[in-house]
Amino acid sequence: MNEMKVLVIHGPNLNLLGIREKDIYGNHDLSFVNEYIRQEAETLGLEVEIFQSNHEGEIIDRLQHAMGKVDGIIMNPGAFTHYSYAIADAIAGISIPTVEVHLSNIHGREEFRRKSVIAPVCIGQISGFAHVSYALALRALLEVSGKSER
Ligand code: DQA
Repeated sequence: MNEMKVLVIHGPNLNLLGIREKDIYGNHDLSFVNEYIRQEAETLGLEVEIFQSNHEGEIIDRLQHAMGKVDGIIMNPGAFTHYSYAIADAIAGISIPTVEVHLSNIHGREEFRRKSVIAPVCIGQISGFAHVSYALALRALLEVSGKSER
């Protein structure tokens, strides 16, 4: 039994999943995505905590609070992906392996979405697989942490 603890952070406007731009983000709402994450985590034997905020400062506070308490972070920073150096600095500062995830393929969208200021301080980025992006990130964190039993 591994005891890896993972914090999942959803950034701004992800509370509107299932309502906003369904052609891009699909029909599933955030509670569906969160239930999917919880089930995937249980299958992998991971402890998971999920947080959503529309506020940059709250996200930074949550990241700092995670220091020494979690083994990995999965973060969909929403639009903060493209310009929040403050969130990038927080991730760099806490030294917790972090995976950036996106529902949509940001590299196939508008020019401003193709750049992430968060990715350079993450161990990797998963983009374009809808809610499955989160499951892939859980698997990636588990495998690279060396706590996988496989
Ligand atoms: C997103 C992509 C961002 O560009 C956008 O601002 C979002 C969602 C995604 O999951 O595809 O809010 O992070």
